[in-house]
Formats: sequence, structure tokens, C-alpha cells
Amino acid sequence: MVRGKFITFEGGEGTGKSTQVRLLADAMNRSGWNVKAVRSPGGTKVGEKLRSILKTREEGEELTAETELLLFGACHSQMVERLLKPGLADGISFISDRFFDSTMVYQGYARGLDLEMLERINAFSCRGLKPDLTILLDIEPELGMRRSSIRAAGTGALENDRFDSETLAFHTAVREGFLTIAAKEPERFRIISASGTIDEVAAAVKDCVNHEFGLEIL
Ligand SMILES: Nc1ncnc2c1ncn2[C@@H]1O[C@H](COP(=O)(O)OP(=O)(O)OP(=O)(O)O)[C@@H](O)[C@H]1O
Ligand SMILES: [Mg+2]
Repeated sequence: MVRGKFITFEGGEGTGKSTQVRLLADAMNRSGWNVKAVRSPGGTKVGEKLRSILKTREEGEELTAETELLLFGACHSQMVERLLKPGLADGISFISDRFFDSTMVYQGYARGLDLEMLERINAFSCRGLKPDLTILLDIEPELGMRRSSIRAAGTGALENDRFDSETLAFHTAVREGFLTIAAKEPERFRIISASGTIDEVAAAVKDCVNHEFGLEIL
């Protein structure tokens, strides 16, 4: 049995991660791959419960940065041991909408927790599992925020999403954090501009995946 591939999409809000995860998973499944799209936080039953804690504002009680970090770690541990490792061994490929690089960026570069500690917690939570390929969708924060707010206006989700209320400075720190960690692991990361149309970005993603894995996915 050939081991599946583990691909993650990273980037700030509104860069098009969820859109491109769906399109790539569909394209690979059409080409005969067995691909599951997952998300972080989330991915497993327990992970989805943790996601709702992370995403819902609790009246009068803010999550501490440390609580956030440990809930993300718990999510990743469940996902790695109960979903990714057995699935990959069975030949299933996974495309995740965010993964531990988001922890480094949001809890570390943006919220200021110690980066070395975060690396250790990520390695501990994921038992050393790393993505085969991480696609960083990069965009000017203003454009990403505009896309997110257009989407939120359509769904009415804006008030409930704690991360969507952050300032432009926060989004800029997030972008710079992602670019910094991508530069540290150039063999795993590919940076794709997210400022084109959905189809243009999807074409760049397909080229990237074809090239990285030496195959034609479409
Ligand atoms: N290339 C694009 N050009 C214009 N609009 C786009 C593009 N990609 C996605 N969108 C739209 O922008 C909004 C945000 O996209 P999407 O939800 O995929 O981003 P995301 O990175 O998953 O955001 P979040 O981090 O908030 O989950 C959606 O309404 C989507 O349809
Ligand atoms: Mg999304």
C-alpha cells in the first residue's frame, strides 16, 4: 500500500484556504486519488467539539492564550493519532485547512507566546508528524480582510468569530509570521500568491502539487 500524502493550506483570513482545499480535493479525487479534506481546529469528533470552544465567545470569560494553545494541541493530537496516521498508512491522502503552522503564527508571532515552547508542543501533539507539503496562500492583509468580511456578511458569522474582529496590525503580524516560518523550512513550504481569481489560484496550486509530487493530478 502506497502511503497517502498529507498537504496543508496555511495563510491569514480570507486568503482562500477553504476554497482551495475543496477545489484541490475535488481535482485529486476526480483523478483517482483517495483524498479527504479536513480542517484545524476540527478533523475528528473531539476536534470539532474543541473547535466550537475555540470559535465561540463565552460571555464574560475570555480564553487565555495558554488555553487556546492547549486546545489546539489537543485537536492536533486527536487528528494525528485517530485520523491522519491510520489513514495515511491505508493510502488515504489528506488536505488540511490549517494545521500546526497556524499555531506557531497565531499563538506565537501574533499573540507572543514563546516560539521554542510552541515548537515543542506542536511536535509533542503531532508525535513528530509533519505535512509532506504546505501551501502558504499569501495576500495583502487588507484584501484578505475584505474577502472575509464579504463572506461573513453573507453568512452573518462575523459577530461569532473571535479571530475576525482583530485589527489590521494583527493581520499584518500574521502574514509576516507565516512568511518567516516558510523561509525556515523551504523544502516543505510553497508560497502562492492568493491575489488572483479563484481559478488562477487553483491553477497555481495544481501546478505546485504536480511539480512537488512528480505527477499529473489533473
Ligand atoms: N481568489 C479569490 N478571489 C476573490 N474572492 C475569493 C478568492 N478566493 C476566495 N474568495 C472568497 O473570499 C472569501 C474567503 O475565502 P475562504 O473562505 O476560502 O478563505 P479562508 O482562507 O478559508 O478564510 P478563513 O481563514 O477566514 O477561513 C469567500 O467568500 C471566497 O468565496
Ligand atoms: Mg476558511
